[in-house]
Amino acid sequence: MQRQTLYNLHKVQTEHIDSLQSFEIRDSDIFLVTYPKSGTIWTQQIIISICELAGGLNEYPNNLKQMPWLEYREDHGDYSLRPSPRFFASHLTPTLMPPGLKDKKAKLIYVMRNPKDNIVSFYHFSIKSNVILIDISYNCAVAGGSWFDHIREWHTKKEQYNILFLTYEEMILDLKAAVTKICTFLGKNLSEGDIEQVVEKSTFKNMKKDPKANYEFIPQDKISGNFMRKGQVGDWKNIFTAAQSQRVDHLLQEKLGDLSLKFIWE
Ligand code: PPS
Repeated sequence: MQRQTLYNLHKVQTEHIDSLQSFEIRDSDIFLVTYPKSGTIWTQQIIISICELAGGLNEYPNNLKQMPWLEYREDHGDYSLRPSPRFFASHLTPTLMPPGLKDKKAKLIYVMRNPKDNIVSFYHFSIKSNVILIDISYNCAVAGGSWFDHIREWHTKKEQYNILFLTYEEMILDLKAAVTKICTFLGKNLSEGDIEQVVEKSTFKNMKKDPKANYEFIPQDKISGNFMRKGQVGDWKNIFTAAQSQRVDHLLQEKLGDLSLKFIWE
């Protein structure tokens, strides 16, 4: 049996992806790039909350409308007509991103999550979702492509972009430090009180009940998966066998060993 992919669901059209090659970038654009299930909607909430408090933001009914996915354009109209500042989320690799991003003026935040928790989050989302993110008709391809390729491409091409790298785990360990880092990178001058407010709005508990941020606004017949599931580091230990864990360790060494990336596992 074949299953519909997330890409089909969102009607990602090759013409739209191709058109990104001539997509005009503005200096004020802010991009958030992740591999799926790495902390996208969390970082989205932080970026939007910072910019709201800094002022001059257009009002949108929810975070998805404020920061639509670059590759899923269908519901959000013509991106070239959106007023500045524009925000985009994306799961794309550098090759598919608008080349204009490389002039280093627009800002890009990349969030990475340890691959074991990333797999577990992806797994839970896929089994709960009415849309399986794995297309068995296409060599077991998953939405987002290979995690290893995503990480490698963005890390090896980072010099070409105005980019801030963050990890899901550092955000868990010290949310205030992560918010401050993002704020500084975006060039926003917020008071200590404002930073605290962003932190409060971005905790798992508060985001889960925030209708603008928790993605419950997505109709259930579109995606029934839970975007805000557990929000922890180390959940992989509850699900991975020792052999599975070793396999990921082995693959990490084989595919990304030369990048000397550090991961927080628990
Ligand atoms: S998606 O579908 O690609 O947009 O998913 P994404 O937002 O990248 O990742 C979803 C995971 O992020 C967790 N999440 C959070 N963790 C901690 N704090 C906050 N505020 C938060 N918001 C979202 C979410 O629970 C998913 O992880 P898991 O491990 O499944 O809980």
